[in-house]
Amino acid sequence: MELVFVKPGYRSVFCMDELLEKDEANGKTKRKRRNTMPERKVVLEDKELPKAWYNVLADLPKPLPPVLHPATKEPVKPEDLLPIFPMPLIEQEMSPKRWIEIPEEVLKVYALYRPSPLYRAYSLEKALGTSARIYYKNESFSPPGSHKPNTAIAQAYYNKAAGVKRIATETGAGQWGSALAYGCSMFGIKCTIYMVRISYEQKPYRRILAQTWGAEMFRSPSNRTNFGRKILEEDPECSGSLGMAISEAVEDAATHDDTKYSIGSCLNHVLLHQTIVGLETEKQLEKIGEKPDVMIGCVGGGSNFSGFFLPFVPRKLSGDDIRFVAVEPKACPTLTRGPYRFDYGDTAGMAPILKMFTLGHSFIPPPIHAGGLRYHGDAPILCHLVNLGLVEARAYHQREVFEAALLFTRTEGFLPAPETAHATKAVIDEAKDAKPGKVIVFNHSGHGFFDLGAYQAYFEGKLKDYEYPQEKIEEALKLLPEVKEA
Ligand SMILES: Cc1ncc(COP(=O)(O)O)c(C=O)c1O
Repeated sequence: MELVFVKPGYRSVFCMDELLEKDEANGKTKRKRRNTMPERKVVLEDKELPKAWYNVLADLPKPLPPVLHPATKEPVKPEDLLPIFPMPLIEQEMSPKRWIEIPEEVLKVYALYRPSPLYRAYSLEKALGTSARIYYKNESFSPPGSHKPNTAIAQAYYNKAAGVKRIATETGAGQWGSALAYGCSMFGIKCTIYMVRISYEQKPYRRILAQTWGAEMFRSPSNRTNFGRKILEEDPECSGSLGMAISEAVEDAATHDDTKYSIGSCLNHVLLHQTIVGLETEKQLEKIGEKPDVMIGCVGGGSNFSGFFLPFVPRKLSGDDIRFVAVEPKACPTLTRGPYRFDYGDTAGMAPILKMFTLGHSFIPPPIHAGGLRYHGDAPILCHLVNLGLVEARAYHQREVFEAALLFTRTEGFLPAPETAHATKAVIDEAKDAKPGKVIVFNHSGHGFFDLGAYQAYFEGKLKDYEYPQEKIEEALKLLPEVKEA
């Protein structure tokens, strides 16, 4: 008897192998179908990698509020940003074009780990007993282990092409720093990283990872910048914050001709580069004939979630019933409790002023383990969409987030970064009591292999939940820049 396997369609919930059974005696063929293993992931070939990023600025129903110069408080002009960014990135920041071509050199590096797979979370679904279908885009396969290289590679490329010799940046727990170190090493450009002091000391492994890619690392506040020295004079034991580290990196870039600054989230060009995630997701869902009902992601500065859902915004604007859910920590409740105001992007007030939901640029975050979700503001594009009612936001405490992370790890097998696990928690809540057939898609933004200390603290019952005090928000808001709103 000869058995011939026919390739299954992607549509099937189970992988239905069609088995053609040929009866040698009478030469007739019988068709049989059998259930084999579930179709767990949708992969794209290298040649299916999107060739252009999607720029939502072309489709926004209301224009984005302007970015203001920190000194004049007037809208910034491209030349104002030249001391810190190369011109192609400034153009992308302000571009009205819907599609921006991805350079060949960037695609070549992307192809090392992209397209990333889209998984169906069968085991999680089963554990929850849900009748929803859950999918996750797995961004943890990049060399540093998160979505961050999607923009690090692009930024390193444009800087190199503009003749820049060195890039300075900040990092919190080290995800962004390690990603930029990797991106810079791909294009042979130097990388200087100001790492928030508490993480530099308590979380050495991402620092060491960045060093393996050749980056030089400094604890922030440092004595390399005027701003760092001023902070250290006032408080030699200062544990640092992301806002302070940004101020140091911006000062480093602005005071060295051969150096520019690079940012890991928040700004329009960063979100633009991250749309590679959503564009791939769109192709993958199309392949299996699925349409998302809800798309979920965690939010620090807003780049992984925005890159994931922005390519779906035009559908929502043309009437599709699709929800976008942003998830943040209750300890840093920017979108859920901050007001929508103009504020500085950094602590020193050297970075541009952005209209965003903010906890105030003087915010010093409680020591939660999702280090990448502790920024005082959020991406202006994401904030604008939340303000227009197109995106929902919700917040969780860290203990419930770690509980969700463990359910995911013990069913799907992948260990989420604590940041990512905020999205996982929201997915679990959305899946409970879901109507049959609800399609939930989320972004698994990174792995938690360097966060085992946090998991250990959870196992040992040492994790605390923090509710950010209202008085602190109100106090910080008194320091917002005075800006005349149009
Ligand atoms: C794995 C992971 N996910 C999410 C984030 C949050 O950043 P963003 O909102 O820019 O995606 C971070 C930040 O460091 C991160 O490391």
